[in-house]
This record gives sequence, C-alpha cells and structure tokens, in this order.
Amino acid sequence: MKDYIVIGGTSGIGLEIVRSLSAAGHHVHVLSRSQRNLDGLDRVSHTVWDALGGEAPAGEWPAQIDGLVYCPGSITLKPFHRLTGEDFISDYQVNVIGAVRAIQYFLPALKAAELPSIVLFSTVAVKTGMPFHASISAAKGAIEGLTRSLAADLAPRIRVNCIAPSLVQTELSARLTSSEEKIKASAQRHPLARIGTPADIAAMATLLLTEAQWITGQVLHIDGGMSSLRL
Ligand SMILES: NC(=O)c1ccc[n+]([C@@H]2O[C@H](COP(=O)([O-])OP(=O)(O)OC[C@H]3O[C@@H](n4cnc5c(N)ncnc54)[C@H](OP(=O)(O)O)[C@@H]3O)[C@@H](O)[C@H]2O)c1
Repeated sequence: MKDYIVIGGTSGIGLEIVRSLSAAGHHVHVLSRSQRNLDGLDRVSHTVWDALGGEAPAGEWPAQIDGLVYCPGSITLKPFHRLTGEDFISDYQVNVIGAVRAIQYFLPALKAAELPSIVLFSTVAVKTGMPFHASISAAKGAIEGLTRSLAADLAPRIRVNCIAPSLVQTELSARLTSSEEKIKASAQRHPLARIGTPADIAAMATLLLTEAQWITGQVLHIDGGMSSLRL
C-alpha cells in the first residue's frame, strides 16, 4: 500500500485518478481549494490548498510519498489578438507555477520513497497547433519542457512524465461539451471518433504512478489519435 498526492483530485481527471488509486488499496492525499466528490472513497483524505496562494500546504504528510499528480489547469480559448498579457500570466501561474510549488514542497518525501513518480498534464494543442490556443499551449509547452528537465534533474531516483490529452469531458471543458451537437462535432475530429473520458486519462496516469518503472521524461499523447493520425 503506497501514499500518493493528487493536487486537484476533486473533479474530472484527478478525481478518476483518486478513485483508481483508492480502489487499488493505496492511501490518497487530495489537495484542492474545496472538498467535494470524495465521500465514500476508502483511504482518501482532503486538505484545502490553493496552488496559487503562495502558502505551503498545511498538515501532516507521510515521510515517504510514492507519487504526485498535479491536475489544476485552464482552457483559455481566444483569438490571439484578444489574448492579454494577464491571460498568459494567469495560464502560466495555474499550469506551471502551481506545479513547481507542489513538487518543490513534496520533493523531500518523494526522494525518500522507493520508486517515486511525478505526473503532470499538457494538452494535445502543444504538438498540434490549433487556433485560439496560443496562451494555454504556451503554458503547457512549458510543462513539457519542465517534464524533461525535471526527469533529468531527478534521475535515477524519481520518474517524471506528462500526459497530453485531447478533449475530455470534465468541469474544465464544460463549455466545449455543453450540448450533444458540440460533443458530436468534437468526436468527429478524432480518429477514434469520440472525445475522451476521465477514465481514459486516469488509466495512463495510474500506470505511470504505480508501474511503468522504465519510463521517464516522456509526453504521453492520450488523445484518440488526434495528434498523430489524419484519416
Ligand atoms: N478536460 C480536458 O479537455 C483537458 C484537455 C487537455 C488537457 N487537460 C488538462 O488535464 C488536467 C486536468 O483537467 P480536468 O479537466 O480534469 O480539470 P477539472 O475538472 O477542472 O479539475 C481540476 C481540479 O484542480 C483543482 N484546482 C483548480 N485550481 C486549483 C488551485 N488553484 N489550487 C488547487 N487546486 C485547484 C480543482 O478543485 P478546486 O476547484 O476545488 O480547487 C479540481 O479538483 C488539467 O491540467 C488540464 O489542463 C484537460
């Protein structure tokens, strides 16, 4: 039985990762700004923490932490001429700086574990240029660079990987998935003819956290074929 930290484990992809780790018998420590959706899950605790607040997460933590996932993110979609400097800074803060703070805080406990693993999130829009994605793909591009740099810094002790999903139905993507018409139109753009579910992504995250012990510094494209196929 291992100990995992899931930042942003109360919704969407993070919640599905928490469910998967809990079902496998692990202890899961969830941090987010509000507690919700965790009732009835075994060995799951919640700590209120804002990744952008500048404070260290309060609480008592295990001396050894086997894995950390950072899930907070954003989908700021605007034509380039309407994006402001504040949009770029805000996307960078929540996607990159929050992840850096979380990793720095838990690094000593990660280093103390036997085969620790860190999982971050990018987006399909980094590899495949898409209109309106300039700000979010710039921030997630930084996450891909951070993934490879940290994987090198922390080898051979800690594996660091990131997952680049295409559209997944969650609270974050609610505006893009708010009707059957929108879901169908998005599904048709994917070679596998559907949009993603949180479980599609959580399966890879759980594998990276619990097994996959010879994978580090990778960007895993879990995107229904979106980034690599043209049918
Ligand atoms: N959904 C997609 O289509 C999609 C596509 C590509 C990439 N991604 C990436 O996948 C990751 C997960 O996305 P998701 O769709 O599962 O998101 P989500 O449903 O919005 O969940 C985000 C989680 O992060 C927490 N959170 C947000 N801001 C926080 C903060 N400042 N401090 C602490 N916790 C915070 C939220 O809880 P609280 O609100 O309670 O804090 C929630 O638990 C993100 O990095 C996203 O960019 C998603």
